[in-house]
Amino acid sequence: MTDISRILVVGSGAMGSQIAMVCALSGYEVRVQDISDDSLARAEAQLRARIDRNVTKGRLTEADRDAAFGRMTFTTDLAAAAQDVDFVIEAAIEKLDVKRELFARLDELCPEHAILTSNSSSFIPSRIADATTRPDRVCNMHFFNPALVMKCVEVVRGEATSDDTIEATVELTRSLGKLPVLLDKEINGFVANRILTEIRREAMFLVDGGYASPEAVDTACRTALGHPMGPFELQDLTGLDIGYYSQLGRFEDSGDPVDKPAESLAERVEAGHLGRKTGRGWYVYDAEGNKTGVNRWN
Ligand code: 3HC
Repeated sequence: MTDISRILVVGSGAMGSQIAMVCALSGYEVRVQDISDDSLARAEAQLRARIDRNVTKGRLTEADRDAAFGRMTFTTDLAAAAQDVDFVIEAAIEKLDVKRELFARLDELCPEHAILTSNSSSFIPSRIADATTRPDRVCNMHFFNPALVMKCVEVVRGEATSDDTIEATVELTRSLGKLPVLLDKEINGFVANRILTEIRREAMFLVDGGYASPEAVDTACRTALGHPMGPFELQDLTGLDIGYYSQLGRFEDSGDPVDKPAESLAERVEAGHLGRKTGRGWYVYDAEGNKTGVNRWN
């Protein structure tokens, strides 16, 4: 089985940066690669602020924090970052053509034995694996937002994925302190996001039909159903663009009008109101990330 010590995380957004931190805190040597220097600098600053809180709260020693950051490298140079890694977690933008191009490149740059995984929340491994010459060493490893906190990681087997690849990915997941949920057969959206999509669809129906406001729906989900966040609050956390593009991918796959992203979601994404990361989504947030009101539309 693949012996994993060096991990490359591609993409330094909210998911990629926290996934990389989880790996570094678990003792792996981690390279975080992104095409944007600004994004890398932002990721490192946000991770330092978040992890410093753990030190202040006495859950992590300064030495362990420094050792974890010492195992991380932030770079824009994909070729240098990929040359000696054992495992890749791709967490780039949720667009199939970008991912396929990236996987073809990673296939050329990474050592023969390296396993290439995608954190994609919607694209099945087979849509990505055939862009490489190693489809047996490709699968999905899907984390949840916020990745530093959420325990579940979906491990998704593609048509060509080998048993060794699945075993290594499941073992890595456990070594990160996460709980693997294995999909034996690939399906768009996997388990958790398929269920979440149904909740979101109904939530959008209620709002777009004028039956209830996003606040009312969120309050009902929290206080009647015991969800930690309502669907609109959660979309602000995970990014409206992420939800929109994964829904669009599903619609393009199925052609079923029921899968088409809601108009009110598309409008917000077009306007750049992407949730907490832009200060506006379904709600408005101040510079400290506190919710200050509803993002009124029209
Ligand atoms: N990043 C990292 N850590 C965070 C965080 C963030 N954005 N937000 C909160 N946390 C940490 C806090 O530091 C705190 O840690 P501590 O207890 O060790 O100090 C812990 O989470 C709890 O935070 P709070 O007390 O501030 O707030 P809550 O109790 O409300 O918890 C939450 C926050 C964990 C985000 C909780 O509200 C929750 O579980 N929400 C639902 C999240 C969810 O459903 N995620 C799945 C989304 S779907 C997805 O990811 C699919 C993908 O494909 C997009």
